[in-house]
Amino acid sequence: TLSQVTHQKKPPLSSILSSHDFEIAAHSTLSKKAWAFYSSAATDLISDRANKSFYNRVWFRPRVLRDVKEVDTVCMIQGVRSSLPLFVAPAAMARLAHESGERGIAKACSKKGIIQCASINASYAIEEIVSAAPADYPFFFQLYVNKHRPSSELLLKRVWDLGIRVLFLTVDAPAPGKREADEAVRAGDILSTPMSGTSATRDKTGSGLARTMGTYIDPSLSWEDLVWLRSFWMGKVIVKGVQSVEDAKRASKEGIDGIVLSNHGGRNLDTSSPAVLVLLELRRHCPEIFSQLEVYVDGGIRRGTDILKALCLGATAVSIGRPFLYALSYGEDGVEHLIDILRDELETAMRLLGITDLSQLHSGLVNTGDIDH
Ligand code: FNR
Repeated sequence: TLSQVTHQKKPPLSSILSSHDFEIAAHSTLSKKAWAFYSSAATDLISDRANKSFYNRVWFRPRVLRDVKEVDTVCMIQGVRSSLPLFVAPAAMARLAHESGERGIAKACSKKGIIQCASINASYAIEEIVSAAPADYPFFFQLYVNKHRPSSELLLKRVWDLGIRVLFLTVDAPAPGKREADEAVRAGDILSTPMSGTSATRDKTGSGLARTMGTYIDPSLSWEDLVWLRSFWMGKVIVKGVQSVEDAKRASKEGIDGIVLSNHGGRNLDTSSPAVLVLLELRRHCPEIFSQLEVYVDGGIRRGTDILKALCLGATAVSIGRPFLYALSYGEDGVEHLIDILRDELETAMRLLGITDLSQLHSGLVNTGDIDH
């Protein structure tokens, strides 16, 4: 298990068979600070664990004797072609995993035909990330709105000028979550710094990396601010971090192009629902929403089977966070290898489920009786 891993040499990439293997390798080789920042989640890690375990409570109802020789995994996300029904979730500071950081992820994604959503908190400027991929390769961009609004306006002007047309507005982080593993490492940093004449104490409100980074985020943001955003952003807007049917409906009413059902990888409000539960609620209480906007889910997606389950329940695509950071500890090659693994798992699961392209997925192919009440 992860807790038994001691710090050691990286296993060869050829021995990595799953996203779990990447996680184990990253745990044994990343710096303490990087591991704590990437792997941590809020307080008791309940949402973080449920994100993964709830996919295990959805069961397939495979169909047999169908010709599944050829399978096609192509998917359209906001009108952009993707070779797989997934994109890289926006995540801060990829450079803690490898010097190439988000540029390495961009190179691998462009080779493999999937889209990266670059975070505003990336370790490279958006221009540097975009220039790592061939010209015109599509990117998505994720924004946290700055308390100082003109800064956000200027940034989005740069993003637009780079040809990016799909904006993810993250709304589930008006306050940073309390991530104790992240804060413990930083507290250790502070305490190990000699300070004359004072006994160093932890800053109770701002010791973790996440809390330090998030100080510019505007907690006063509200639905009304969409008018401000649309006054200068002419591209698509996706609201990331929707966690209720009510907010999904509001997003649709506001003419939003898509929503990400997400609890931020369990990193913000602990015991907020895993996205798959919100997806089930949406299906029950607002089935029309799936024809009004695109619905994505993230959190805990680790296997091709998890992706298929989310799509059966109505998601257009999924996004994946930590596994890409862990894979990046091997540089660009690691990220390519992770994409290959996910493609292989997805194609295998499609064949065994009895489907040949993603449009054939529907809720009749899964049994959710265990969690759908
Ligand atoms: C994130 N996430 C995130 N989300 C966002 O909108 N902006 C950001 O800058 C970040 N930064 C970030 C850093 C790290 C280290 C992690 C792990 C996550 C959340 C991310 O986009 C996504 O919602 C989750 O990572 C999905 O869960 P999994 O796939 O990591 O389980």
